[in-house]
Amino acid sequence: MNHPMSRFDLSGKAAFISGASSGIGLHTARTLAQAGAAVALGARRADRLDAVVAELRAQGHTACAVPLDVTDPARIAPAWQEAESQLGQPIDILFNNAGVIYVERFISQSHDEVSRIFDTNLKGAFLMAQEAARRMAAHGSGSIINIASSSGLRAGGQMSSYGASKAGLIHLTHIMALELASKGVRVNALAPGNILTDMQAEFAERGIEEGILKRIPMRRFGEPSDLDGATLLLASEAGRYMTGAVIPIDGGQILSWM
Ligand code: NAI
Repeated sequence: MNHPMSRFDLSGKAAFISGASSGIGLHTARTLAQAGAAVALGARRADRLDAVVAELRAQGHTACAVPLDVTDPARIAPAWQEAESQLGQPIDILFNNAGVIYVERFISQSHDEVSRIFDTNLKGAFLMAQEAARRMAAHGSGSIINIASSSGLRAGGQMSSYGASKAGLIHLTHIMALELASKGVRVNALAPGNILTDMQAEFAERGIEEGILKRIPMRRFGEPSDLDGATLLLASEAGRYMTGAVIPIDGGQILSWM
């Protein structure tokens, strides 16, 4: 019998990472490549990824960059086409990560910003997952990992559009899991707490970081690498009986939210 750790091996698989030019997406592209997957990095400015792609190739990984704006429905299928043709194989794993934040009181949230949040975090993630599901169902297997947020599980002040978009993505995860299980496609979500990326700078600028830290039982912010274990579990054969799961990765934060 194979060693249980071999079930985490992604050799021979291909992954598409949206929002791969920074933060969690960039880190996870490297992680999935190190676990053996060929990786397609999607970003609005794909040329910004040239150095990362070169770095991954120099390490012996298969990698490419494709232009991707998840708010442009007409460009999503072509981006998948390009990713699969550059990697030379169908995509098995979607790390559905592109997202934006908006921290503002409900009463003051602007129409433009609310549209930006829902168009990216919910509609963009929906359309990416739909394209993934169509392709994965056609070849009978796949894993979609939606990047939600602890803000989608519990209410947080000044996070109305962001929190609602992530709660919507969690609900979508459940419905997709239900509909796609019989087609061999698993759909799960990660619900990170406060992870140290550019997104976190929004809280620092507003001087509310200290208050947040006090509500994290582990008394530290997360690092992108704190997501690796759950990502590899959901992406690989190790998570083969998991679908519809929403995994908090937050140092216990949602347990002491208010
Ligand atoms: P980030 O700002 O570094 O990464 C977001 C990425 O999405 C960027 O590369 C950005 O260019 C890309 N993006 C934004 N709009 C896009 C569009 N229309 N099309 C394609 N790409 C687009 O921030 P971070 O933290 O790495 O965020 C990644 C995901 O993790 C987001 O969905 C975010 O909501 C989620 N998240 C982050 C948390 C945190 O504390 N950093 C906590 C919970 C969830």
